Amino acid sequence: MSLQGPKTREYFQRASKVIPYGVNSNFRYWGDEDTLVVKGGKGAYVWDMDGKRYIDYRLGFGPIILGHGYEAVVERVKETIGDGTVFAWTTPLEIEVAERLTRMTGNDKVRLTNTGSEATMHALRIARAYTNREKFIKFEGCYHGQVDYFMYSTASSEKRMLGSRRSPISAPTTSGIPLGISQYVINLPFNDFERLEETIETKWHDIAAVIVEPVLGNAAGIFPLPGYLEKIRELTEKYGIVLIFDEVKTGFRLANGGAQEYFGIRADLATYAKAMGNGFPVAAIAGKEEVMMTIQPGAMAHGGTYSGNGVAVAAAAATLQTLEEEPVIATIGKRGQRLMDGIDEILNDAGIPHAVTGAPAMFSLFIGSDEMPTDFRGYLEGDGDLYEKIAMELIARGVQPDADGREPWFLCYALSEEDVDFTLNAFEEAVKTAKS
Ligand SMILES: Cc1ncc(COP(=O)(O)O)c(C=O)c1O
Repeated sequence: MSLQGPKTREYFQRASKVIPYGVNSNFRYWGDEDTLVVKGGKGAYVWDMDGKRYIDYRLGFGPIILGHGYEAVVERVKETIGDGTVFAWTTPLEIEVAERLTRMTGNDKVRLTNTGSEATMHALRIARAYTNREKFIKFEGCYHGQVDYFMYSTASSEKRMLGSRRSPISAPTTSGIPLGISQYVINLPFNDFERLEETIETKWHDIAAVIVEPVLGNAAGIFPLPGYLEKIRELTEKYGIVLIFDEVKTGFRLANGGAQEYFGIRADLATYAKAMGNGFPVAAIAGKEEVMMTIQPGAMAHGGTYSGNGVAVAAAAATLQTLEEEPVIATIGKRGQRLMDGIDEILNDAGIPHAVTGAPAMFSLFIGSDEMPTDFRGYLEGDGDLYEKIAMELIARGVQPDADGREPWFLCYALSEEDVDFTLNAFEEAVKTAKS
């Protein structure tokens, strides 16, 4: 069975002639038979080229926090771009976005950029300049974008490449990275208190930063164990290491103030993108005054022709305003909790061992055991094949999570109670068919 209808197939084949694998990001490729081509989206829905509707839980890998084509955002962008978009001067809209972002997240200062990858790249450079150290710690299963330094032991890495838990190997996610880059990265299993303490206590003098997705947004939304983020904070503070929360997925989604608000922990730097612009390319590096002021004209670089461009800041201003003025996160939280509970019940009734991971705004399912995985290694012990079967059955029924359970289900404000009912009914049928 192929997911492509006749028109979608025709477009995909056309795309494949001029775009490698027919997609502009490897993550979008689902094989020649199942990669879809989208006509458009509105609210919580997207339509493929054959006009088939899907309730969208991928939301472009998370950015659509309000809904596709959200009117207030589209209108603000339209109003703005007629007056030009790039000036190489500061605009009032950039100031509005910076004021909103710092107010909502509690960070002292912010610089804007365009993508999550740029934000994490700049954050690491600031941390290195601030500490005058070169190495950094990241965690297995965390993804911080397409920057060479971070492309190790991500959710795309195989378990056998990660080495033993005692001495983890930094497994490259891709060809094309110079060998020498790996000397700068130390990958650790998430939620392992002992390994973290031992590594920092022995190597702190070389370590500029610890970068972490506070919730593993690229590994099924695995949560930190109680006290783990606090432990990272305590150790980084003690040894003068910059703590970077990569909030590209958690920012403006777990709470208006992201994971820093949700867990009550203040990082030194935080990176934002995705939900910040409801689908428009806008991102930010924010943080404490002292660390952010490492940036210095002529001495410590941060730049970018399109940083703070008119399209991006208009979208961000309207998105952040909506988040501040309407009960977006609370509404998503309520619907997400219903989905998590409903899915849990259906899997219980079907006798499938599982755990529902993550938070209502970004959750996933671990299938194969009732024990909640606490790190990426644990997640890989699950039954990814059964997850994929259920997901493909759902997609065929017009409900679209990612086919890969490492990518959480994302919810948007436009998702209605009826959409939740529809999803749970489809889920029940999908489970029955996948099991048979
Ligand atoms: C946690 C995290 N950081 C960084 C990135 C990179 O963001 P972008 O794709 O906008 O470059 C992603 C993308 O999925 C992400 O999930």
